[in-house]
Formats: sequence, C-alpha cells, structure tokens
Amino acid sequence: MTNAPRWRVDCIVGARPNFVKIAPIMRALRSDGRFDVRLIHTGQHYDVAMNDVFFQELAIPAPDINLEVGSGTNTEQTARIMLGLEGVLAADRPDMLVVVGDVNSTLAAALVAAKLLVAVTHVEAGLRSGDRTMPEEVNRLVTDRLADLLLTTEREAEVNLIREGIAPGQIAFVGNVMIDSLRASLERARPVRETLEAHGASAAFLDAVKEGYGFVTLHRPSNVDDPATLGGILAALSDISRDLALVFAVHPRTRATIAANGLSTLIEGGRILATPPLSYLQAVGLMREAKLAITDSGGVQEETTALGVPCITVRDNTERPITVSEGTNALVGSAPERIRAAAGEIARSGGKRGRVPEMWDGKAALRVVEHVAAFLLRRGC
Ligand code: UD1
Repeated sequence: MTNAPRWRVDCIVGARPNFVKIAPIMRALRSDGRFDVRLIHTGQHYDVAMNDVFFQELAIPAPDINLEVGSGTNTEQTARIMLGLEGVLAADRPDMLVVVGDVNSTLAAALVAAKLLVAVTHVEAGLRSGDRTMPEEVNRLVTDRLADLLLTTEREAEVNLIREGIAPGQIAFVGNVMIDSLRASLERARPVRETLEAHGASAAFLDAVKEGYGFVTLHRPSNVDDPATLGGILAALSDISRDLALVFAVHPRTRATIAANGLSTLIEGGRILATPPLSYLQAVGLMREAKLAITDSGGVQEETTALGVPCITVRDNTERPITVSEGTNALVGSAPERIRAAAGEIARSGGKRGRVPEMWDGKAALRVVEHVAAFLLRRGC
C-alpha cells in the first residue's frame, strides 16, 4: 500500500476575487492526501495591493507557475493566458483543472483544458445576470458549457444550468467558498480605525466616522469607464456623504477614469476618504461595521449578505439573485437619484437585514473537494 497521492489537480487563479475563492479550496485539497495540487497564476492581477497582499493574508501558497500575462483588452488577456497555459498543461497533464468565478482567467483556462481533454471543475457555476454586455457573463456561459463538473453557490444556478442543457448529474450545490474565506477571516479582520489611519484619514474624518460610515467600491466598466456615468455616481456619493461619511476603496480602473477626467473634485470636501485598493482583512473589517455598502462588485454583494449589512448595488441586474431575495442587497442601477434615494431609505429604516443563504456556512471548500474526488473516481482515474 502506497501513500502517494492518487490524483493530480491544477487550480487556476488570475484576478483578485479568484484569490479569495481559491484560498479555502487550496487548503482543503492540500490537507487531503489523495491530491497532488499545483497552483497556476495567470498574472491577470499583479499589483502588490491587488495580488501579493491577498496571498499573504489568505495564506495562499505561492503559485507553482505564474504566466505573468498582465493587463490588456479582454481578448488580449484571454489569448495570452491560453497560449501560456497550453504549454504548461500539455507538458504536465493534470487529472483535473479547477477554475473559480467568472474572470477572463477562468474562461481562458477552461478553454485550454477542454481542448487538451483535461477535465474541468467550475466552482461558482450557473450564475447568470442575463446581461451579455458584461465580459463576465460571456465568461460564465462559455466556462459552464465546457466544464465537466459544475459546483454551485445557490439553487437558482442549477435551474439556469439545466435550462441551458447541462446534465443534472454534472451539477452539485456546494455553497459559497467566498464565505468560507470570510468566516475564517473575521477574527483577524483589521480594526476600522487602524485602516482609516493607515490611509491618511484626517482627525475630522475619524470623528465623523464615529456616527457611522458607508463602504464604497466601484469597478465595473459600465460604471467607471465612461466619465459622464462615473461623474454622476460620484456626485451621488458626494450628496450621500453629507449625512454619512464614506470610505471609498478606489480600483485602478476607476482611478484611471477619475484622473484622466479631473473627477476627483467631486469627492473632495472631507467626508469621503478615497483609498487605494484595500487588503482583504482591511476590507472585511470595514464592511462588517459599515451602516451600508455601495458597490458594483459581485463579491461585496455576497459578503454584505453574509454579514447582514445593507447593500446598494449600482447595477440593473445581478447574477447573484439570492443576495436580493434572501440577503441585504438592493439593485438600484447607476442613476444618481436612485443611489441617493436608496441611501436615504437605509438611513430612515436601517435597511434590509436579510438572512444568510443555505450552505453559506464556511464549509463549501470541503464539499468541493468531495465532489472532485467522487468525479475522479467515477472517471476511473
Ligand atoms: C477583473 C475582472 C472582474 C473582477 C475584477 C476585480 C474580467 C473580465 N474582469 O476586472 O470580473 O471583478 O477583476 O478587480 O476578468 N490594473 C492594475 N493593477 C492590477 C490589475 C489591473 O493597475 O494588478 C489596472 C490595469 O490598468 C488594467 C485595469 O486595472 O487595465 C483593469 O484590470 P483587468 O484585469 O483588465 O480587469 P478588472 O477591471 O480588474
């Protein structure tokens, strides 16, 4: 009898939300003696604040391979990842490739594996916004079409997949690995004051925050690439900040539009603290104690639902409907008056409290691993 691992599994990461999702999966796979695991980083996100800090705080092992593709158009990024990954997988074929979420790295890796006849598991399968103007929606549709094992975060995702012709036997409901990371990190989350001081908050801002604050993130191309749209949203934030101090973690994409169009004047005035991208433990610490969040991030919609913090989503649709039907989320679109009205409503009523969805229990990654093992056994690997 040998103790050598039985199956070779490669996990792919590329962009910030992937790191939060892969951390518990890597931990569960590596502590299970049946697997020999490699972590492959595409290099889609590379800044220290968007990348290194997440690896450190989430205790993700250093990638075994980094393709270092960097930024570019969606097509450039996807193509470069495919070219780099093809060589890696062809030289050293795993039994299974695990991809998470919906970023360009997810799609590119699923395509390469499908062409090389390597089995693909998609974690966070079946989410649909119905909005193909979002690059992520195309990534989700194609990744799910190609995946062999589709693991879902909410029950509606299975309905979507079956409607698209995926066989029920390929699908399993496992819960939400992003919430595994959240729960595992709550104790280590950074204190609010420490984070604000680290980002240069004035004494007046620290004083204002004692009355409560809102947490803001914006990075969807549809909200931040067009200066008129972004300007409208920032004007709404400025109005809201008269009643509620705001901490605005500014994504590089958003920062670029603000800088190129002189929009920073819209958020000056002392009641909005604009920071660079925050570390994971800083973001969790701020989110947990916020009176509300204003965001267009998929992850923040889910995290605020898990934390019971009211969330105003600056989009017309969401691929995560359970955050609206059960959680604390409200979809308001990007019209400034609707964002203002939603914040006013939360100020009056305290906002939705919601409940934590089924199987967002901190154990999703263990279920991922069991389904991967069962799949490989069925395959006779
Ligand atoms: C990507 C994902 C999105 C996810 C988001 C989280 C796709 C299609 N989009 O969007 O789903 O919600 O990550 O952040 O995959 N940049 C830096 N440093 C970095 C990375 C990016 O400065 O480390 C800048 C570059 O100018 C780049 C821009 O940000 O052009 C956008 O980066 P990119 O990876 O193309 O997409 P995101 O907007 O981050």
